Amino acid sequence: MNDNLAEARERLLKLSESAEADGEPLRWFEELYAGAERDAEEIPWARMETHPKMVEWIAEHPEVIGRALIVGCGLGDDAEWLSAAGFDVTAFDISQSSIDWCRERFPQSPVKYCVGDLLEPADEWLEAYDLVVEIHILQAIPDSIRDAAATNLPKLLNNGGHLLCIGRLLTERVPNEPSPPWPLSQVWLEGRFETLGKLSFLSFVNDDTPTIDRYVAAWNRHTAKV
Ligand SMILES: C[S@@+](CC[C@H](N)C(=O)[O-])C[C@H]1O[C@@H](n2cnc3c(N)ncnc32)[C@H](O)[C@@H]1O
Repeated sequence: MNDNLAEARERLLKLSESAEADGEPLRWFEELYAGAERDAEEIPWARMETHPKMVEWIAEHPEVIGRALIVGCGLGDDAEWLSAAGFDVTAFDISQSSIDWCRERFPQSPVKYCVGDLLEPADEWLEAYDLVVEIHILQAIPDSIRDAAATNLPKLLNNGGHLLCIGRLLTERVPNEPSPPWPLSQVWLEGRFETLGKLSFLSFVNDDTPTIDRYVAAWNRHTAKV
């Protein structure tokens, strides 16, 4: 692990441990965004560009269009791309500072940016979306509440809606970590979405991080109840 990465991990571990000890395990996201003072270099996951695997998946599924919900939108790049691609996009994040930052970055955007918590989804989001996108969210939520967060995702889909998830995959060569992001196992993910139909589950690595296994996976809802 290089020094910067080790330092960033150390910082995240401290913030997340102290938030969890206070019984507010998700508090550290706001602390991190607010403390960054609009310097994206301070946000370890900020790519400032669309996730290429999401773009690839959308290109392969032109039939998926309509209302999209971006869970944990961070700095908004994925939401903006989907909006430009023709989706009617709502994007939420638990951090007020991240939402303010998105609005500042994209002042003319038609995306509806709002503060929200996957653990307590707004009533109007339930069964409302043709596409729900979760990129690096479940892996950032501690184990103690990850199950509850994951099982809320299918509830956001309309009948026929698609769920797209991208994250780190727990494999034999990728050990579990003490600090976020925590890699997730295929078995765990599939168990959370068993009321949906699995469309695909692919593992991949990025050229710049060849020792990290990742997944891009999609499900769809094809029943009246989830
Ligand atoms: C690792 S970041 C990923 C951000 C973005 N999706 C990306 O790929 O750059 C995780 C994001 O999820 C947000 N988040 C964490 N828990 C959440 C929750 N329960 N509800 C909504 N957003 C949450 C955090 O504030 C943070 O922006």
